[in-house]
Amino acid sequence: MNKSFSLITGASSGIGLEIAKELASRGKNVLLTARREKRLIKLQNEIISKFNVECDFICADLSQDKSVTKIYNFCKKKGYFINILINNAGYALPNFFHNTPMEEEEKFLRVLSTSVISLTKIFLTEMIKKNDGKIMIVSSVAAYAPPSKIQSLYGPVKTFMNRFSEALNLSYNKNNIYSTAVCPGYTVTNFHTASGVQNEMDSVPNFLKKSASRIAKEGVKGMLDNKKVVVPTKTWKIIVFLLKIVPKKVFDLISSVLAPGRYEN
Ligand SMILES: NC(=O)c1ccc[n+]([C@@H]2O[C@H](COP(=O)([O-])OP(=O)(O)OC[C@H]3O[C@@H](n4cnc5c(N)ncnc54)[C@H](OP(=O)(O)O)[C@@H]3O)[C@@H](O)[C@H]2O)c1
Repeated sequence: MNKSFSLITGASSGIGLEIAKELASRGKNVLLTARREKRLIKLQNEIISKFNVECDFICADLSQDKSVTKIYNFCKKKGYFINILINNAGYALPNFFHNTPMEEEEKFLRVLSTSVISLTKIFLTEMIKKNDGKIMIVSSVAAYAPPSKIQSLYGPVKTFMNRFSEALNLSYNKNNIYSTAVCPGYTVTNFHTASGVQNEMDSVPNFLKKSASRIAKEGVKGMLDNKKVVVPTKTWKIIVFLLKIVPKKVFDLISSVLAPGRYEN
């Protein structure tokens, strides 16, 4: 594998799409992946016309366990060396835990965690060989926030991903490989509609909602600077700071006023 590429999961929309454009604007070749082909083709055309980089795509459903091998084989065949891996694809499940079929929980966990681990594992070997690698995990402020009544696994899985990112740094910084957990707060994307939780987003005050392009810019800069954790925007930096020091009961109360959707169904 020769030519360096940045692989971005969930590149068909929202934060992933903006990260792809941000990386291309910095001269990086990008490999886009998601399920919706038309959107990937549209983004590929936009990137090729605007930036002087190579841009390719592969459709893959990360809830299917064969998808990671499919992406890896595609890269091998094309001679792409993935020196930047952006694990971004994700969504939330809208219902109470007892109302969600186990099959849906498994798919959710595969997209948000197992595929992240699997993609990282499969591309890490080449990164170690070349002494060159950057990994981004798009996590969430939910990793630090009190639990939500209706998204029982979302916060825990993001906390898990933050810890995984820390472990990667501990093991591989010596190989010039760095992992960055990017933890956005509420971001205006297709996430809440796709996840069936748009009511949650509608009840959030505007000052807490940030644009996907801003998250992408701060996230990519942090990753290129080898930052371990990036909480984009000042507003959410302050909130995460408060989450670490304010007693949980007090935060729950404030949160139930500012983001009531997390508490109702
Ligand atoms: N929006 C927020 O408020 C917010 C806040 C904190 C963290 N985040 C995190 O940010 C990341 C990106 O979300 P977003 O806000 O940009 O949402 P989005 O606009 O809905 O984008 C989600 C992306 O994930 C892809 N995806 C979903 N299921 C997939 C599957 N089974 N296989 C492959 N790709 C899949 C989607 O592509 P296809 O549908 O084409 O497959 C899409 O490109 C997620 O990890 C989310 O947890 C979001």
